[in-house]
Amino acid sequence: MSRAESQGELLLVGVGMMGQPYVTAARRLGLRVRAVEGAARAAHVAEQVDGLVVSRGTHDELWAEGAWAAAGQGRPDGVLPFTEWNVTGAALLQDRLGLPGPSLHAATVSRNKALQRGLFAAAGIRQPEYVVTDDPAAVRDWVATRLPVVVKPLSSAGSAGVELVADLDAFLDVAARRGGRAPVLVETAVEGPEYSWEALVSDGRVWLANTTAKETTEAPSFVEVAHRTGVRLDAGTAAQADEFCAAVLEALGMRSGVVHLEYRLAADGPTLMEVAVRTPGDYLMDLLGLTYGIDWFEMAVRLAMSMPLPEPPTGPVGYAASYLPVAPPGVVVAVDGLDEVRAHPSVVTAGLWKQPGDVVPPTPSSADRFGHVVVRADTPEGRDEALEFVRRTLVARTRPA
Ligand SMILES: Nc1ncnc2c1ncn2[C@@H]1O[C@H](COP(=O)(O)OP(=O)(O)O)[C@@H](O)[C@H]1O
Ligand SMILES: [Mg+2]
Repeated sequence: MSRAESQGELLLVGVGMMGQPYVTAARRLGLRVRAVEGAARAAHVAEQVDGLVVSRGTHDELWAEGAWAAAGQGRPDGVLPFTEWNVTGAALLQDRLGLPGPSLHAATVSRNKALQRGLFAAAGIRQPEYVVTDDPAAVRDWVATRLPVVVKPLSSAGSAGVELVADLDAFLDVAARRGGRAPVLVETAVEGPEYSWEALVSDGRVWLANTTAKETTEAPSFVEVAHRTGVRLDAGTAAQADEFCAAVLEALGMRSGVVHLEYRLAADGPTLMEVAVRTPGDYLMDLLGLTYGIDWFEMAVRLAMSMPLPEPPTGPVGYAASYLPVAPPGVVVAVDGLDEVRAHPSVVTAGLWKQPGDVVPPTPSSADRFGHVVVRADTPEGRDEALEFVRRTLVARTRPA
């Protein structure tokens, strides 16, 4: 499509596999599309876009390098990051070119959990007590009176390096293992069921928001294994959660784009885990589409391009869930049940990521999950039944490594 006949040009910073629907949505809207993409997927993405810059690596700085290089070849009319590591480059460019986005402030804070803690402490937002240190042994006295604690890296994702530490001996082991390296956050462990909150935000105003119930593996690591969208909290809790999420957006200075916020519902109210101004993972965008009958990818493209949004949906039109199971630690021997799962009428998609011979480490992260299933039903009960069927049926067997 020539520049003249298109509605404008979108620059995608990162596409990946799960960001493909951004390209599809942009095309449907009549946009020209250029992309910055990593070497592994560059050839695939090149076939779908009008111009491509290959990122020289996976770090934030190299995605930013790619984004600047792409802008040097021609000014885009909108810039959209895909995942965590793409956010900074996209936000720098949005800021420099005066294009819509979450704001450089929100994006910078989103990329660093220690910045989040500092900002939200000042804003009076409920969150764990915390310290930031590159010498965990030095904070043993602080930890001793606050166990259990959670230790985590400042700028990662997918629960990588996030561990619950139950007692002081275990903490000293962690300190020996992780001391003298990159700084970590040590924070009090919050108890309570976990939710995420996904929102499309236009110029600081929430256009559409959703509550997702999240399920993770047991401690010590917290790998996300199930998400159910379109969850209704009781009226009192919902009002409290709305106010809480609004306060987080206000403190962030969130302008436009997708927000993915995680909190636990503790005895004294919603308590922040983290917030990110990027595409949520684990098929959440697909679940949100199935739940609200609109394409969240398209809405994000519209926000990035300053294109009008339709009237927001008034409520769920369906109920969806994703299931991303982890096998017991060891070597994968077999995965059973995929065909039965695929044959279930509520199953939308299902697939495997691991095969016999793959190793599941003792402390897994999201990258160690063995498959993915998306279900959809007309009622929350139907969705939950389908999820339970999938949980029973799709099973990985492992043997000790
Ligand atoms: N302070 C905490 N208290 C209780 N659970 C926590 C705490 N911090 C993290 N978790 C658990 O670990 C998960 C991953 O931590 P998070 O900070 O969201 O890192 P990531 O960026 O890897 O998702 C959270 O979703 C939550 O289940
Ligand atoms: Mg998280």
